Amino acid sequence: MGDMRIVVGVTGASGALYGVRTLAALLTQGCEVDLVISEFGRRLLRDELGEAAAVDRLGAYLAERYGETVGRGRYTLHSNRDVGAKIASGSQRCEGMVIVPCSMKSMAAVAHGLSRNLVERAADVMLKERRRLVLVPRETPMSLMQLRNMVSCAEAGAVILPAMPGFYQMPKTIDDLADFLAGKILSALGFEHTLYPPWQG
Ligand SMILES: Cc1cc2nc3c(=O)[nH]c(=O)nc-3n(C[C@H](O)[C@H](O)[C@H](O)COP(=O)(O)O)c2cc1C
Repeated sequence: MGDMRIVVGVTGASGALYGVRTLAALLTQGCEVDLVISEFGRRLLRDELGEAAAVDRLGAYLAERYGETVGRGRYTLHSNRDVGAKIASGSQRCEGMVIVPCSMKSMAAVAHGLSRNLVERAADVMLKERRRLVLVPRETPMSLMQLRNMVSCAEAGAVILPAMPGFYQMPKTIDDLADFLAGKILSALGFEHTLYPPWQG
């Protein structure tokens, strides 16, 4: 799996922890990650995880929180305004993309193919190239438009993977909940992992 290329988008929905946990898990798998964080995604990282998780020291934060094994992979941070980045083109090899967390606004943009910024454009590329696209919405309750946008994305081939951790694994900490969700995301992207034990029936 050493040369897997995955795009990770982080947008301004609550659940920044899910974003960093997923990023750390992909890096531990040895992935090359193209990372794009929206303006509100940057704000949520700081609001929910503190200054230590600010974008310009995210690599150090991941190593401190999840261990040096994140060094097996590497990530490149792109500006969300850079719609000319390589990942804005279908000619760039890439195995898939996850937007975690995915705001209702970004979900709406993907559903309508708006491609106004790099998160939206990279997601559009995944759909047109028939690559894996995993969207992790976090909103409650949901309006009819929000539900319809999710259906549109699913009809176009995206996996809708709501930030809904299960409790049957008897989580003890918030990190257990984040591990569970990151594990679900890695499975949807085609990775084997040990982020949660397999259900024994
Ligand atoms: C503190 C805070 C929490 C938010 N939580 C959510 C949320 O859980 N889900 C959501 O869809 N939007 C949420 N929003 C709204 C989005 O951040 C807003 O719609 C923003 O324009 C999304 O832009 P982006 O998708 O480019 O990041 C939140 C905003 C703030 C400031």
